[in-house]
Amino acid sequence: MEETQQQIQEENYDYSVVKGFVVMASVYFVVGTFIGVYIASELSWPFLNFDIAEITFGRLRPLHTNAVIFAFGGCVLMASAFYSVQRTCHTALWSNKMAWAVFWGWNLVIVSAVITLPLGFTQGKEYAELEWPIDILIALVWVLFTFNFIMTVAKRKTPHIYVSNWFFMGMMVMITYIHVANSLVIPVELFKSYSIFSGTHDAMIQWWWGHNAVGFYLTAGFLGIMYYFVPKQANRPVFSYRLSVLHFWTLMFGYVWLGSHHLQYTALPGWTQSLGAAISIAMIIPSWGGAVNGMMTLSGAWHKLRTDYILRFFIVSLAFYAMSTFEGPVMSIKTVNALSHYTDWTIGHVHSGALGWVGMVGSGALYHMVMRLWSTEMYSTALVAIHFWTATIGTVVYIVAMWVSGIMQGLMWRATNEYGTLKYTFAETVVEMHPYYVMRTAGGFIYFLGTVLMLYNIIMTIKMVKAKGGE
Ligand code: HEM
Ligand code: HEM
Repeated sequence: MEETQQQIQEENYDYSVVKGFVVMASVYFVVGTFIGVYIASELSWPFLNFDIAEITFGRLRPLHTNAVIFAFGGCVLMASAFYSVQRTCHTALWSNKMAWAVFWGWNLVIVSAVITLPLGFTQGKEYAELEWPIDILIALVWVLFTFNFIMTVAKRKTPHIYVSNWFFMGMMVMITYIHVANSLVIPVELFKSYSIFSGTHDAMIQWWWGHNAVGFYLTAGFLGIMYYFVPKQANRPVFSYRLSVLHFWTLMFGYVWLGSHHLQYTALPGWTQSLGAAISIAMIIPSWGGAVNGMMTLSGAWHKLRTDYILRFFIVSLAFYAMSTFEGPVMSIKTVNALSHYTDWTIGHVHSGALGWVGMVGSGALYHMVMRLWSTEMYSTALVAIHFWTATIGTVVYIVAMWVSGIMQGLMWRATNEYGTLKYTFAETVVEMHPYYVMRTAGGFIYFLGTVLMLYNIIMTIKMVKAKGGE
């Protein structure tokens, strides 16, 4: 009886828009990582710039970050938020039409980025490069996404709000106001504007945005994914609901203070820099609490890891989450930052979070959703397994290369001879970096291959369902 009711309910859920986001996320994953491999190759072999302005490293780098964060990350977040909110609240979306408006609006943002960034239109702020008309579009689409989600939660048929929804809502509210604050500009032309903030204030607002794009979008949002999909895939309740609530509130109140750790040894008042570092260190506690909570959800079901590759994606992603949230606080300490800042160590840290955490938890969620949305097994489980290994090996090769190169770079820059002058010229450090840049390109390429396999597997799965007369 209960089973039938559940089935009737599911038939009324709005899954078509979720399907759209799932497919686009897997397409953008391939595109974003391809551009990543290309810019990594440009750093290894600079002739690949071909003296064509539109494809130089400087133009393609922001295209890479926008493609992986906003195109891939955004579509995964929107797919999983719209999917899980319906299932945890036992109700269809508040407005399916509005969800489709979010789908088309978000894709329009992405197309605009693909056109404007290579042409050199940029606000020059990291992760906020897009010019003001696109920023307005982002704000509108994001508010629609948030509003639709909150209204769906409001009409839920369950007594309480499941923790994944708290994480999604935390992300939505926070991203709305930091995006708007950091995008306050005076437009002078259609694609040219100046920030209303200046100097140190501008830097602080920018990194308040920049860090919280990491903290709320790439972390809180993806934790929403983790809290829904890990228990579902393991078929176990979350290890500790209490710990998850504690995780939520400490993360929400802690992360907003960290932006200044990006501005150590700058004109920012010293106390702000130290405060940023102190709270960054404190963030190890909630982050590890969350990682342990996710991993321990498997207690009593560890044997499933032997056969379930989707679960492996989740567990390895949690290991990388734990690792990058240990590394980040260490890097925020001023004496460590004096060595790591400006070096490839930062790039290694970024990608242990991005490839290991965001990419892997996102891939697990995509596979999980494809099988439920199209009510099928994957076309090839072997390809899921190969994707898992390419993702894990690719990430490790990438970050090891960057750790070695970053620490070497930092040490060479600060080395002095017996006369107190610099021991190495900048060009000498670049020469030393070369083998590690090639190694990073190789790691990135391995990771990219996995994303191609996932896209192929998803397309073939959908084709297989359609051939059998499904939708
Ligand atoms: C095949 C996989 C990837 C490769 C080869 C790759 C490569 C690169 C390269 C070469 C850079 C520029 C580094 C520099 O300026 O020295 C970069 C920057 C960046 N990438 Fe990736 N990337 C990949 C995947 C991803 C993914 C999946 C994400 C996010 C989910 C991501 C997020 C970023 C971010 C945020 C930066 C800017 C880092 C900073 O400014 O410190 N990347 N990537
Ligand atoms: C407790 C958690 C974390 C702390 C305290 C932290 C701290 C830091 C620090 C100190 C830096 C270097 C700042 C600099 O020298 O300029 C940094 C850079 C960065 N981190 Fe983290 N991190 C954390 C977790 C993460 C995670 C999980 C991700 C990815 C999902 C991530 C993504 C980034 C990115 C993209 C940058 C580069 C920003 C830029 O310069 O463009 N971080 N982080």
